[in-house]
Amino acid sequence: MTLKRTLLAVTLFTTITWYGNSQSRIPEVESLLQKMTLAEKIGQLNLLTPGGGIATGSVVSEDVEGKIKAGEVGGIFGVTGPDKVRKAQEIAVNSSRLKIPLLIGADVIHGYKTTFPIPLGSASSWDMGLIKQSAQIAAKESTADGINWNFSPMVDIARDPRWGRIAEGAGEDPYLGSAIAAAMVQGYQGADLSAPHTMLACVKHLVLYGAAEGGRDYNSVDMGKVKMFNQYLPPYKAAVDAGVASAMTSFNDIDGIPASGNKWMITDLLRKKWGFQGFVVSDYTSVNEMIAHGMGDLQAVSAQALNAGLDMDMVGEGFLTTLKKSLDEGKITEEQITTACRRILEAKYKLGLFEDPFLYSDEKRPETDILTDENRKLARTVAAHSFVLLKKHEKTLPLKKNAKIALLGPLADSRNNMLGTWAPTGEHKLAVTVLEGFKNVAPDASITYAKGANISNDPVMAKNVNVFGPKIEIDERSPDTLLKEALEVAKASDVIVAVVGEASEMTGEAASRTDISIPDAQKKLIRALAKTGKPVVLVLMSGRPLTISEEYELPVSILQVWHPGVEAGNAIADVVFGDYNPSGKLTATWPRNVGQIPIYHSMKNTGRPAESKEFQKFKSNYLDAPNSPLLPFGHGLSYTEFEYSDLKLNTSEIGTDEALTVTVSLKNTGNYDGEEVVQLYLRDVVRSITPAMRKLKGFKKVFLKKGETKLVTLKLKPEDLKFYNSDLDFVAEPGAFEIFVGTDSNADLKTSFHLK
Ligand code: BGC
Repeated sequence: MTLKRTLLAVTLFTTITWYGNSQSRIPEVESLLQKMTLAEKIGQLNLLTPGGGIATGSVVSEDVEGKIKAGEVGGIFGVTGPDKVRKAQEIAVNSSRLKIPLLIGADVIHGYKTTFPIPLGSASSWDMGLIKQSAQIAAKESTADGINWNFSPMVDIARDPRWGRIAEGAGEDPYLGSAIAAAMVQGYQGADLSAPHTMLACVKHLVLYGAAEGGRDYNSVDMGKVKMFNQYLPPYKAAVDAGVASAMTSFNDIDGIPASGNKWMITDLLRKKWGFQGFVVSDYTSVNEMIAHGMGDLQAVSAQALNAGLDMDMVGEGFLTTLKKSLDEGKITEEQITTACRRILEAKYKLGLFEDPFLYSDEKRPETDILTDENRKLARTVAAHSFVLLKKHEKTLPLKKNAKIALLGPLADSRNNMLGTWAPTGEHKLAVTVLEGFKNVAPDASITYAKGANISNDPVMAKNVNVFGPKIEIDERSPDTLLKEALEVAKASDVIVAVVGEASEMTGEAASRTDISIPDAQKKLIRALAKTGKPVVLVLMSGRPLTISEEYELPVSILQVWHPGVEAGNAIADVVFGDYNPSGKLTATWPRNVGQIPIYHSMKNTGRPAESKEFQKFKSNYLDAPNSPLLPFGHGLSYTEFEYSDLKLNTSEIGTDEALTVTVSLKNTGNYDGEEVVQLYLRDVVRSITPAMRKLKGFKKVFLKKGETKLVTLKLKPEDLKFYNSDLDFVAEPGAFEIFVGTDSNADLKTSFHLK
């Protein structure tokens, strides 16, 4: 770090602690604002995507170069590579009147070129260290390619697996989701935003995007404030508390007001209540989309968005084209425009762009920083840690490295599906297939591959999914021919590994499903394989919890691998052949069928709880299925076994500002070394608003050699007992609490304490 940069960092730390609306503490920003015309200020609020790069939406911007020259652009996205970014910055600093550099944004959701598992997968590692490291690598690689602003982390709580974007977040739980949100913000931003390897993070999508009705993307959200504050808002707040530099509004409405024009959300909650000090950007054309929501014409919705506190307009250009008119008509104030502009300039200053607009345009860096062996190694580790062993059948797994294996299934040799959804900066050709991974890790095994089935036989589904290139490829051979070939290969093998599940773009944005089972084409294959009498391992890929009740009943082992990223095949082979013992745990409940949705571990009791597994009239249950999910939140097996005992507390009574220490003895009783995620669930027995039956309030990932016993300590902090009451005050109420500790959210080792 140069002396100048050190001074800059120190200045940032000591003086930028306050972001009032009337003046910036950064003198450079204030003096720049003095020089700016109204049009130039409005220009800074405009975010464009020139197209030709990575498309993430249906509209691209026109004449971006001309607009940059005219001072009508604050940032661009979808442009990568230090040379291109340098060109864009040159246009901004050489040809615009005030020479203001650009923000360069991108969606680096799970890695840049080194693609990590989809976020729902990484979350399943429950390993905050690995998650933070993967964000650091993502920042290092993307800044090497010119990007200084990342549209990540996506922290939307999702309890509806029909929603395709559940793949992009951490799952159903606010406690775990908050820890992950903080780890990612820290990973991207580091301690010094002006360092060349760090970038602005952007928490998204504010708020409640994951609660879209019916799991249909962009749909309305209607939620009471108590639920919102207790269950959906914590991860966004955690990102704010971690110092996230920017935030993105969501597409949905909240209480009838679209997020991008929602003053309660942007100003009252985010800025005033949570003290957010960065800038707020809309989602892709979400300001314009307020017209379709029924909020008025482009001028009206743009004014509404600015009045609500939105600072930057993504792609839609409503701010650029209408704010001046609204100002003339007295619908907004110049002060509001200046405030929004100030926030964007401050972000640019924090990045060090005013000192050096070409800070992220170092042509030498891609070679040394992107897709290094070290980065790929981390991707392989994170992927292996993200896999969840859903079911063990007999002792099939791990496989011997000299086994005779039938490697079957439409995803076993499918490079295009390894990266997962929302990997616009990744490259499919870099991904390792499962077939390749098996050969790399077990060169002495005899491996025969056959496709066995299409991902789906439905040409309409294939067309809908293949918008970004071929993901579902319907074979020229008939389904029967494929199946026959696979069964022949299976017959000649000792063990069958079938790689099945969803194509990567069967999840993600605008990829909701009403039926979340394994497509029929593959179900047929799985049934036939299970009948062969050979040991069968299903390697299951998906971007969401699936309904797999039928497959779960078959005599098969099931390893859930999500979409594992660039090192997919190697990581899968590492786990299948036992070089790494799986340790992932589900972060979203797996329902038995779609009718159970929403289903999550922290559900409340009813006044008429079902007391038996059999149907009971006038109790809260279903005629045709149990209440319990197929697989609970936190579920995940290991090649070894763990035994919990001796759950103890340091005291049976605490005061409201005291912490509680929980210890439990954990023994590895099986035949392998392994890691276990010890989980702590809390139940507030009596309180002023109906409590959840239990909710996650602590976890620790521990490694135990076989035969080893460890005493695991977890701490409950005073705020872990708090909740938002009917007045939305964050309080802990005296009374009895129960604690459950164990291997998943059904943990039954129990103790209790009293809060004075
Ligand atoms: C998505 C955002 C993304 C933006 C820019 C939108 O469609 O909802 O998550 O950051 O596009 O690519």
